[in-house]
Amino acid sequence: MASDEPFSEKLRVPEALTFDDVLLRPKESRVEPDDADMATRVSTNVTLNIPVLSAAMDTVTEAELAIEMAREGGLGVLHRNMTVEETAEHVETVKRADELIIRDVVTASPEQTVREVDRMMGKEGVSGAPVVDDDDVVLGIISGTDIRPYLEVGDRDEVREAMTDEVITAGEDVTAREALELMYEHKIERVPIVDEEERLTGLVTMQGILARREYDNAARASDGSLVVGVAVGPFETDRALAADAAGADIVFIDCAHAHNLDVIDSAREIKAEVDADVVVGNVGTREAAEAIVDFADGVKVGIGPGSICTTRIVSGSGMPQITAVAEVADVATQHDVPVIADGGIRYSGDAIKAIAAGADAVMLGSYFAGTDEAPGRVITMNGKRYKQYRGMGSVGAMKSGGGDRYLKDDPEDEEYVPEGVEAATPYKGSLESELHQLVGGMQSGMGYVGAETIPEFKERSEFVRVSSAGQTESHAHDVVITDEAPNYSPDN
Ligand code: XMP
Repeated sequence: MASDEPFSEKLRVPEALTFDDVLLRPKESRVEPDDADMATRVSTNVTLNIPVLSAAMDTVTEAELAIEMAREGGLGVLHRNMTVEETAEHVETVKRADELIIRDVVTASPEQTVREVDRMMGKEGVSGAPVVDDDDVVLGIISGTDIRPYLEVGDRDEVREAMTDEVITAGEDVTAREALELMYEHKIERVPIVDEEERLTGLVTMQGILARREYDNAARASDGSLVVGVAVGPFETDRALAADAAGADIVFIDCAHAHNLDVIDSAREIKAEVDADVVVGNVGTREAAEAIVDFADGVKVGIGPGSICTTRIVSGSGMPQITAVAEVADVATQHDVPVIADGGIRYSGDAIKAIAAGADAVMLGSYFAGTDEAPGRVITMNGKRYKQYRGMGSVGAMKSGGGDRYLKDDPEDEEYVPEGVEAATPYKGSLESELHQLVGGMQSGMGYVGAETIPEFKERSEFVRVSSAGQTESHAHDVVITDEAPNYSPDN
């Protein structure tokens, strides 16, 4: 007698779904995509203006890309295939970018000659400098216009004769608006910042304020600095402390299997020692989320969905990403802990599906690895331009130090068992235009569902299951594509 019963209990298995298995059910809407508000909480204390993070991979996120991510409203997570000192330097570089008060101020001394100062300003690329005495007390300010030849100032004259000695200064607590008002009122372009003894502590420039204004959607910490995240190995307390001291906003415990009890113990200890938020990952199940949500400021989800990952093939273990995100979010939402969906996102549609499944934000690697801001140079193969992109569990990346992500970090063992590949990804140009396509597509998804904010979208969105015929119908079909679209390639 035929039966649908499996031969063994072991074969009574639940189904797990990923991006291509589902679509968002379109709903009644009055939401224009451009009006969809993309702000989201990515960890207990950090809010972003777009729900997007760049992956902590050595071919994706260093300071340059992290700065651009934060300027556009998202978060870059610095990789950890570098020394602890370098990690601190990268964090400081991000934190210094777009600072209202510049700290590395080029100064002049009153005894220098006009010629010396002119040369120095040219070399340093500045057009003016505060003049300070040996105790850093501000005596005046000298700028290009003070030393133009027609002003009867000779090359050999001392700076004290050429400088403007009525200096307008401000204190440490000056805001951008107050500094601008001072600049307009006194027709000046820079305001030295001084302490109670009139000693120089920094400088605010008109150019700096205008540059900050360009990034009106930037993700900033309460002190106005750009936000930045740092990946640390599961047992790397030293890196976590250094990143924290340098001002990192979030420390990411970076492990391929964070439901390892030693990893969780160590993450808990790191959390107790740093001021930064601590996000723990990666996980892919409800049980793993339950083990983490009582202490973590965020949970990151993804066991094997990444484009360069071979974890599922090598280890036979993993969770299709939509199911993984939904399971983790069921638990994390009850504890008000944000969820980040990490890996496998090829299109903007995948990103917004991850949010519908319960994520508060998404992390991408391959999507950004081909941009100008990612590390590495552009290479040409068969007339097409590419950039290198490699898994952090690939042989190359593990040789550079990241093996403990895969809980394999025996320095004696030269025969790696990799869980990732080394590859190339098409060169894509600026990060800004990639983000524009990604976020614009996600906003479209919110328009189709009729949700104006990310929390509303998570609440309101529903999935339908797609057959393989439906999947074929979703892609461009029965045509030959003649012009490349900026947000779609059938090869992804
Ligand atoms: P995408 O699909 O955006 O994925 O390129 C990026 C994410 O993949 C993870 N990652 C790896 N997973 N082996 C893995 O199994 C690897 O070598 C590897 N390297 C990165 C990581 O979570 C990243 O954010």
